Amino acid sequence: MIYQANEKRYDTMMYRRTGRSGLLLPAISLGIWYNFGGVDPYENGRAMIRQAFDLGITHIDIANNYGPPPGSAEETFGRVLREDLSSYRDELVISNKAGYLMWPGPYGEWGSRKYLVASCDQSLKRTGLDYFDIFYSHRPDPNTPLEETMGALDFIVRSGRALYAGISTYSAEQTRDAARILKELGTPCLIHQPRYNMFDRWIEDGLLDVLEDEGIGCIPFSPLCQGILTNKYIDQIPKDSRAGKYDGELFWGDKVTADRVAKVVKLNEIAKARGQNMAQMAIAWTLRLGTITSALIGASRPEQIVDAVGALDNLDFSDQELQSIEEILAG
Ligand SMILES: NC(=O)c1ccc[n+]([C@@H]2O[C@H](COP(=O)([O-])OP(=O)(O)OC[C@H]3O[C@@H](n4cnc5c(N)ncnc54)[C@H](OP(=O)(O)O)[C@@H]3O)[C@@H](O)[C@H]2O)c1
Repeated sequence: MIYQANEKRYDTMMYRRTGRSGLLLPAISLGIWYNFGGVDPYENGRAMIRQAFDLGITHIDIANNYGPPPGSAEETFGRVLREDLSSYRDELVISNKAGYLMWPGPYGEWGSRKYLVASCDQSLKRTGLDYFDIFYSHRPDPNTPLEETMGALDFIVRSGRALYAGISTYSAEQTRDAARILKELGTPCLIHQPRYNMFDRWIEDGLLDVLEDEGIGCIPFSPLCQGILTNKYIDQIPKDSRAGKYDGELFWGDKVTADRVAKVVKLNEIAKARGQNMAQMAIAWTLRLGTITSALIGASRPEQIVDAVGALDNLDFSDQELQSIEEILAG
């Protein structure tokens, strides 16, 4: 059966301006880091991407290394694009990144022009796209001049491989420098993709101010702290959860600890009083700041995407709620 997108997909989604650019992004975006790899069932990944688009999630975030194996999430996305979404290409904002290890030898990771351009070309091939909407430097490279990495992003945009440039996990200071260089080159930095959630608030300590000053958008990843900020771990670690599948050892050093679960139990009470579940409140909380463009979620099944979009029904926090959240997090 040929896929027909939901006709009402734009009725309820909220779109926010990315910094001071012309680009609007949905308040919730879908990333395909986990659960879209070659080892995962294709039909589930396909159902999630279709579910997202049907709800007005027009932005899908990819990276060269997503899988496993690396590169396979791009292939999954490319297949969904061919089978279901090719006629909707202009309704989609598709981002990609390079920075982490992709192939052996000195040119397979980090931030050289050699690596970034080659990786972008490989990613275009694997997805079957003519261009990406946003191309990111996935992580700062301490051994490559920032001018070279930013010069590569500028080249990727000028050569038509991408429409906009972005940076991910750069510190406040690195972001200020990157923004200046990109501005001088004539390809302004569109967006920053940092990690941000109730348990990891480093961006409040300087980065958000830089983004505000420079007019750069912000799309925080892991707003649910990889699922820990939901109510799924309250009683146990389910076998089919991310922590269950990876023996509790999650990327970025995340762990389901007794302390975190105790906080989630308390936060969950505030969520309930707001008419939300824990996941919805965690997403709404990341979106409470004006500088935030979109919350970049992950999912393992379509229902989680429906759940996430439900967060948009209540984005307002009272001072009392915010204060109670602060007290629980500090406890
Ligand atoms: N730039 C970077 O360096 C970087 C790094 C990491 C991620 N990212 C991007 O950010 C995206 C999101 O990261 P993330 O996957 O860590 O985000 P997240 O939204 O914090 O966590 C998503 C995971 O939480 C669980 N979950 C989601 N909704 C749920 C719900 N309603 N109830 C219970 N559990 C729920 C699911 O895991 P299970 O069901 O499997 O437990 C899901 O896979 C990635 O796909 C990627 O695009 C970027």
